[in-house]
Amino acid sequence: MADWWKKSTVYQIYPRSFMDSNGDGIGDIRGIIQKLDYLHELGVDILWLSPVYDSPNDDNGYDIRDYYKIMNEFGTMADFDELLEKVHARDMKLVMDLVVNHTSDEHAWFKDHPNFYIWRDQPTNWRSFFGGSTWQYQKERNQYYLHLFSKKQPDLNWENPELRNAVYEMMRWWLDKGVDGFRMDVINMISKNPDMKDAPNGDGSSQFMNGPNVHTYLKEMNKHVLSQYNIVTVGESPGTTPKEARDYTAAQNQELNMIFTFEHMDLDQASGEKWDLKPLDLIDLKENLEKWQHGLHNEGWNSLYWNNHDQPRIVSRFGDDQDWRVESAKMLATCLHFMQGTPYIYQGEELGMTNVRFDLIEDYQDIETVNMYQEKREAGVSHDDIMTKIYAKGRDNARTPMQWSAEPNGGFTTGTPWLKVNPNYKDINALQHKDSDSIYQYYKKLIGLRKNMDIITHGDFELLHREDPDVFAYTRTWNDEKLTVYCNFSSQPKSVTLPEGKILIGNYAPNNSKGLLQPYEAIVYYKQ
Ligand code: NOJ
Repeated sequence: MADWWKKSTVYQIYPRSFMDSNGDGIGDIRGIIQKLDYLHELGVDILWLSPVYDSPNDDNGYDIRDYYKIMNEFGTMADFDELLEKVHARDMKLVMDLVVNHTSDEHAWFKDHPNFYIWRDQPTNWRSFFGGSTWQYQKERNQYYLHLFSKKQPDLNWENPELRNAVYEMMRWWLDKGVDGFRMDVINMISKNPDMKDAPNGDGSSQFMNGPNVHTYLKEMNKHVLSQYNIVTVGESPGTTPKEARDYTAAQNQELNMIFTFEHMDLDQASGEKWDLKPLDLIDLKENLEKWQHGLHNEGWNSLYWNNHDQPRIVSRFGDDQDWRVESAKMLATCLHFMQGTPYIYQGEELGMTNVRFDLIEDYQDIETVNMYQEKREAGVSHDDIMTKIYAKGRDNARTPMQWSAEPNGGFTTGTPWLKVNPNYKDINALQHKDSDSIYQYYKKLIGLRKNMDIITHGDFELLHREDPDVFAYTRTWNDEKLTVYCNFSSQPKSVTLPEGKILIGNYAPNNSKGLLQPYEAIVYYKQ
């Protein structure tokens, strides 16, 4: 089918934390191969691998040293080829992470092709996403190079056609090998306003997000590369509105298939800073997702996600990971998976894995977290106050190793894991996946329903009970069919008038809740 990815569910693997096959404490490609049956049984269609390329790991592989080589810790190209073959043998697809806004400063280009990078005589006042300035002085040139992320991640100069061709050639190399698409890292940042200026509060984003030539470059990439293959593409695009998302994803524009919006992930922060915590107001979430559902309906395509390797665990964030962990994990899954778009599951989400709380900053590995801790300590913020922020928003929440079993280290490794395992692995692990009531089995049902019901792919979205602070309810309609989805985002029962129709799926035993939603209940009705 054309647009096959509209009926697909994607599963994201963070290879470093997925499965370690050789006891060095670091997940690897052979570990992924060992778990392919687990993924196939879940029913997911596409696996997206966070970067597996050679990298000095300043930002866990998002700083690529060689696009044509597999990171030693993860294995060899032969392992990768075997993985690809085995994924295809199970009728699944494999999507690579494409990180081409920047490379590692250890990439050969940085030395041999300095014009592939962005240099200025004077820095602006912009602050990098990982703290400090976005400019690093280099003595040999007596100039500064731009790095929106760490100083070991210099930004590439997309104005240079030679660089663009080198990127396209590399993409074709992977596609010719048989990979099925790309998740494109911060792809909406590749075009910088040439006239870079100081910005209020050091926030230069309006000069590099959705910049002047980004659509020209993506159209060119599409023409020379993407359109030549039957693949799927998703562009990570912070700071993008539905209007811009339409420009990126409308079929006739021939750019990308879908993008990742960030708006719904920013609703629990009080300012532009992710660490500035604020409780989620469910009404904001409903209105935001409604805007995206309507904004892209028939005019683009949504990606649907709660989790990835940069976000805290959703059950700890918008659910209740203590008293209602299983119920709220299933409820959140229901709420997301009945919307229009392509859903993404991040490793461990199907087990209801939770955030983690380590006492010591030394137990954290993420460059963003570690730099933030240091900056805030220097600014006089107390250890405890910073840890509260890290517990809520730190990226290592998502990166603790997969919890496969109740064995030491959750069965992830026989060695010492590169990042500590969440101590709750004895209670929360994949051994439960066979239980008919497990979160995994619930996800499996949702994935199956999407494959079989066209209404989930095509139906119109309408929000119900807009003003209710606890209940997220909506309908999907398509021809004569109707789905009505009710999700209780609170630990209190809620009385509502539930619709007619047969119950399609829910996270409580059927019929015990007519007119009353139980804590974190989700229930979906179907009518023809
Ligand atoms: C977005 C990636 O998802 C994140 O993990 C990374 O740190 C930055 N881009 C920089 O590549």
